[in-house]
Amino acid sequence: MRVLITGISGFVGATLASYFLSELKGQQLEIHGTIHRADQRIHHMREQLRLHKGDLRNPAWVDRVVELVRPSLVFHLAAWSDVRASWDQPWAAYELNISCQLNLLEALRRHSPEAKVLAVASSEVYGLIDPTDIPIDEQTPLRPNSPYGISKVAQDLMAQQYWFNFGLHTVRVRSFNHIGPGQSESFVASAFARQIAEIEHGLQEPVLKVGNLEAERDYTDVRDMVRAYWLALQCGEPGDLFNVGSGTSFPVHHLLDILLNLSASDIIVEQDPERLRPSEVPRIVCNPQLFARRTGWAPRISPRQSLTDVLQFWRGKTSTESERGTKASPP
Ligand code: GDD
Repeated sequence: MRVLITGISGFVGATLASYFLSELKGQQLEIHGTIHRADQRIHHMREQLRLHKGDLRNPAWVDRVVELVRPSLVFHLAAWSDVRASWDQPWAAYELNISCQLNLLEALRRHSPEAKVLAVASSEVYGLIDPTDIPIDEQTPLRPNSPYGISKVAQDLMAQQYWFNFGLHTVRVRSFNHIGPGQSESFVASAFARQIAEIEHGLQEPVLKVGNLEAERDYTDVRDMVRAYWLALQCGEPGDLFNVGSGTSFPVHHLLDILLNLSASDIIVEQDPERLRPSEVPRIVCNPQLFARRTGWAPRISPRQSLTDVLQFWRGKTSTESERGTKASPP
């Protein structure tokens, strides 16, 4: 079975590739992936992957890759994922998320109309939810409050439209927050863990910069999330839509406390206005019941374990790079 993972060197793409290679060895998967720039996260797996380097915003290139690969399963993970930065560069977020998926679906319609395609949206599509809608199920109204959220609504509805118009087997997931080793420091767990690791190595004064600590989010480990993506394509019918998250949430300060308790350093916490956002949903909780019923999925890795692994990841990276005399580069 030929699998195509777009954005295979991204945080989620690399975790999915690793899941296929380690957990699904018996499935005889031929794994193809598109990469745009960095391939650090997949370097150790390179020999087992077939990589296609190029830009998904280029329709001719996407057409060539899909014609060559003719995948049976497609995980479309290449995307703009940074909510905060989408306010600074709204058009870049729209362009990337809409054009990459459009080019992919057009190419699939021409060359692999039977492929099963996973389209990944986000809990950000629900935006300013009414507290009475918590926990959020698939029927909750869409009220996105960021350019990122709008771009994800477009991706989500576009995937549905290709099912309506052309019968493509698209399955949509709206993923809630995911964390884990390898994530960039643009996201909260890595933002805090990296600073703690740098403080422990004496590379930063013992002041940890934070944004809004009150927001409540529903966190799932990325390794559980990629297992959910696999199950979504195994069990999903064309046009299906699933919310994927743990079903519980906690405030950012709780996540921070777990990380601080994992460190022996004395650390002062300071709010950095640069890390605050123009608009923030106060509380997000997923209702994953539909997905659980259809696939049997439930998260296996606790937030504490996940955060321990994130901190370990940044400790390793910081120590290697401080030995080399360079500051830890973003993954
Ligand atoms: N990034 C970041 N950095 N967030 C911080 C910080 C900080 O220093 N301090 C507090 N926060 C708060 C944010 O304000 C937000 O309420 C929460 O931590 C989570 O922020 P992120 O980790 O940046 O994630 P996100 O919720 O904006 O978006 C993530 O989850 C979405 C699904 O819900 C991303 O992974 C999106 O791509 C994804 O769709």
